[in-house]
Amino acid sequence: MMKSVINHAKVTTDHSKKMDDLDFALEIKRLKKEKNAVILAHYYQEEAIQSIADYLGDSLYLAKQAEKVKADIIVFAGVHFMAETAKIVNPSKKVLLPDLKAGCSLADSCPPIDFKAFKAKYPEAIVVTYINCSAEIKALSDIVCTSSNAVEIINSIPKDQQIIFAPDKNLGRYLIKETGRDMILWDGACIVHEAFSFEKIVQLAKEHPKAKFIAHPESESQVLDIAHYIGSTSGLLNFVQEDLSDTFIVATEAGILTEMQKRCPSKHFIPAPVEDDTCACSECAFMKLNTMEKLYRCLKNETPEISLDESLMEKARLPIERMLAIK
Ligand code: 13P
Ligand code: SF4
Repeated sequence: MMKSVINHAKVTTDHSKKMDDLDFALEIKRLKKEKNAVILAHYYQEEAIQSIADYLGDSLYLAKQAEKVKADIIVFAGVHFMAETAKIVNPSKKVLLPDLKAGCSLADSCPPIDFKAFKAKYPEAIVVTYINCSAEIKALSDIVCTSSNAVEIINSIPKDQQIIFAPDKNLGRYLIKETGRDMILWDGACIVHEAFSFEKIVQLAKEHPKAKFIAHPESESQVLDIAHYIGSTSGLLNFVQEDLSDTFIVATEAGILTEMQKRCPSKHFIPAPVEDDTCACSECAFMKLNTMEKLYRCLKNETPEISLDESLMEKARLPIERMLAIK
């Protein structure tokens, strides 16, 4: 008896949640029109948010779109450094982030005070920073890159020039291999991409011998070493569309599987296993802080808003603009 009551309660809860998301979607659409707003969303957002976005993409695509936005308001359904970048490249717009606590473990792994001291040890070095960092770190950089254009950015720097790369040591190591450049690496990492289990991936690959294993370059080097393909979020998406394989084991944030399945309905996508079976570690908890309800409320109340000091924005803009001029 008790069991059936619990089950009934669950059905009701699930049903009302579904209805809520539909209601929020209608309200969000209405408010977007009324307030002349656009929604930019990263592929790691929950499915309902991805479906309502005006622009859906990886961090490079979203930075480029943010720069071009004509609307008055940008609602950034992603994490804090992404919304900050949107504000920096298009400062006259009101930029909203549904949950201000949507941070990034990788950005947090590079505190500006420590990075300033690190940089001072190599006065001759050019500083290349991955876009997953705070505005303060961007302001200490010469050029920014994303995982989509990092190889081109590094290759654009004269061969004899010393380079500091921050904050992601895994992406840094991958870039050293790809470009043959000996870079000085900051010791930062992403908790999501470091959660994948090498042993379990090897086992899974044995169980699916025809599957291709693909990975985001934020993953650890032993994981990258066994990948058939390594690429940014959009790189991975393109790969699964073009490759003839039927099954893919995917080592990046699990949200990308929604778009992969949408673009390739007949193919099979398996999220790469993580070390700890008890957690949903291949989901970015920061990205998932944004919900349809928070998206609706932030558009309705026009808060939380990203606000940055003018001089900080000016310093942080230059390395982003240098990147956008290259690719
Ligand atoms: P992309 O540059 O591939 O969008 O990746 C962003 C990110 O946060 C990866 O964890
Ligand atoms: Fe940051 Fe990692 Fe989340 Fe990407 S997946 S936003 S790098 S914590």
